[in-house]
Amino acid sequence: MAIECMIPTPSPVHEAQETQIHPATALVFDSSVLRHESNIPTEFVWPDHEKPAVVPEFQVPVIDLSAFRSGDPVAIAEVCKLVNEACQKHGFFLVVNHGVDADLVSEAISVMDRFFDLPLSCKQKALRKLGEHCGYASSFTGRFSSKLPWKETLSLRFSDEKECSHIVEEYFQNKMGPDFADLGEIYQKYCNEMNKLALEITEVLGLGLGVKREHFSEFYQENDSVLRLNYYPPCQKPELTLGTGPHCDPTSLTILHQDSVSGLQVFVDNEWRAVNPTPNAFVVNIGDTFMALSNGLYKSCLHRAVVNSEIPRRSIAFFLCPHKDKVVTPPPELVDSDHPRVYPDFKWPTFLEFTQKHYRSDIETLLSFASWLKENQAPLATQS
Ligand code: OGA
Ligand code: NI
Repeated sequence: MAIECMIPTPSPVHEAQETQIHPATALVFDSSVLRHESNIPTEFVWPDHEKPAVVPEFQVPVIDLSAFRSGDPVAIAEVCKLVNEACQKHGFFLVVNHGVDADLVSEAISVMDRFFDLPLSCKQKALRKLGEHCGYASSFTGRFSSKLPWKETLSLRFSDEKECSHIVEEYFQNKMGPDFADLGEIYQKYCNEMNKLALEITEVLGLGLGVKREHFSEFYQENDSVLRLNYYPPCQKPELTLGTGPHCDPTSLTILHQDSVSGLQVFVDNEWRAVNPTPNAFVVNIGDTFMALSNGLYKSCLHRAVVNSEIPRRSIAFFLCPHKDKVVTPPPELVDSDHPRVYPDFKWPTFLEFTQKHYRSDIETLLSFASWLKENQAPLATQS
């Protein structure tokens, strides 16, 4: 039986920091109006200590995937060492020479406008309903009443399972109709490329951690992942708000492509730093689930996005997630008396549900989830 059937529904461990509001009274984020508004609604004004600031640039370690693919053991060892250091410290690195077609990437960014420039009522054909993980969302579809993010998103489900090989195309067809078939095709292709890249990166991570190269790529076979298109409209008061508040990705691995507009910031060494766009590079970061898989060795780190008053900013995030039946458990090589288990076994849907019920994910979330699981979990022996 699946673990998620045997454990009670998560109860509020810590109170949600925001008031849950009724969808009918939720503020509607109509970017065509709000981008010109100099009096931004108070729901989008962040407290002073969280407001954005001009921050120093972060020199993100750069991983050359062509060196990893070269077959040269010295080059491979160097790549793995660099990744290992980055992931133990903050979990962020860039990948270059990844082989993903540059035209596909720039097309994936430019066609975002076709969707996000539509009138709100058209975008709402793909509206993400409360409790769902895919679809169009803005202002967190009514979940919160303050510290709202200045952005709109379209989240698409991707599955590596054979029978789901057209899932992204079908989504566009079903929700948006035949005029959007080309977008479906582009994002399906993009997801297929991200899936291949993500599995290869898990091999670099495996070698970095000193486990078998295929250990994690096998674990992520038939993964059930998400592609999220993030669209940050201009804001006339960018110093008051955030495009995405500080959070850790609860997922396993994120591969982010940002357009040429800066906005991503990472919290490293106790300060915010900017990860400015590097052409032809993807920003990769470790999420909470991979942190658990690595027995806490690789870090999932706080990051956020700021907005500007001039131009929209677009980013595309591929969030690698395990198949729903896989048990997230570290390989035996990473557990011994000096490195006891940090987190109990779990399955991804249980953690996802926990994060949905407990406000946004941050650096506390995985540990709170672990405590909650330990208190509520049925004996391991009865798990499938
Ligand atoms: C995210 C994220 C940052 C960005 O989607 O989880 O952190 O720059 N995005 O859009
Ligand atoms: Ni993120």
